[in-house]
Amino acid sequence: TVAPDAWLASEGAVQAVRPARLHAHHKGSFGDVIVVAGAPGMVGAALLAARAAVRAGGGRVYLVPLAEDAFAVDPTHPELMVRPLGSLEPMLRAGTGTVVCGCGGGSEVAQILPAVLHAAPRLVLDADALNTMAADEALRTLLSHRGARGAATILTPHPLEAARLLGSSSADVQANRVAAARELAGRLRVTVVLKGSGTVIAGPEGPSWINPTGNAALATPGTGDVLAGWLGGTWRPGEAALDAAVRAVWEHGAAADRWAATHRGPYPASELAEAI
Ligand code: APR
Ligand code: MG
Repeated sequence: TVAPDAWLASEGAVQAVRPARLHAHHKGSFGDVIVVAGAPGMVGAALLAARAAVRAGGGRVYLVPLAEDAFAVDPTHPELMVRPLGSLEPMLRAGTGTVVCGCGGGSEVAQILPAVLHAAPRLVLDADALNTMAADEALRTLLSHRGARGAATILTPHPLEAARLLGSSSADVQANRVAAARELAGRLRVTVVLKGSGTVIAGPEGPSWINPTGNAALATPGTGDVLAGWLGGTWRPGEAALDAAVRAVWEHGAAADRWAATHRGPYPASELAEAI
């Protein structure tokens, strides 16, 4: 333990929760991913998340931009299935996929959050989904009811996003990161990935984890969007949220450590998304 009730993540701990890709597996074995993100002017955030979800092992990856008329295909990633916003609710009703929601989402994300909170069996909430939630108690109530239905949720706040949800300041969050992550996880009955140097992963109960991989090359826009998509792509149906989160955070940081061994300066997020 490195703090009361916190463990330092290690290659061995991550290896223990690294799922196999068996000879007989097919794309349906890995679960679909639906990335719903990218308001006008921020569509790149949605692309980064969706591309990372493909690399991380998502079965079929759908991209639903919040900006209408964004694009119909990603020419450099034709395996991504781009769908209009109007198709989200039918997909949610039909699907069993992991939803990654909020990266570059702007205020537009508010219109789809109730449906997503209600229907997604596995949900990763990032960026403006968290900011919207912080300002809306009814949404937080919906969120805390998900657990009772057996739905799982991972929140990926940076310190300021965590502070907004806690009603505190980022200085308070940073003064005790483990306590802040645990408090948020307990209040909302979710798994929390509190990002930054030494990312903390905490569930509503049980021990938390501190991640030692990663470095300041990640301090550049878009690396958080890549993490959200990475999480969605790696999270297998039936897998505990905490295991998927510990693995994704470790591997995201480890990719940055490999890169920093031979480069200086920031790691462009689009390159990180391809490095998984
Ligand atoms: N050491 C290790 N990891 C780091 C470091 C560091 N020094 N700095 C950043 N990281 C990692 C974080 O742990 C996280 O995984 O890089 C990622 C950064 O994620 P975010 O802070 O969410 O940044 P990002 O979303 O890519 O870009 C900023 O987010 O919330 C919005 O309004 C914000 O538009 C802005 C955007
Ligand atoms: Mg972010």
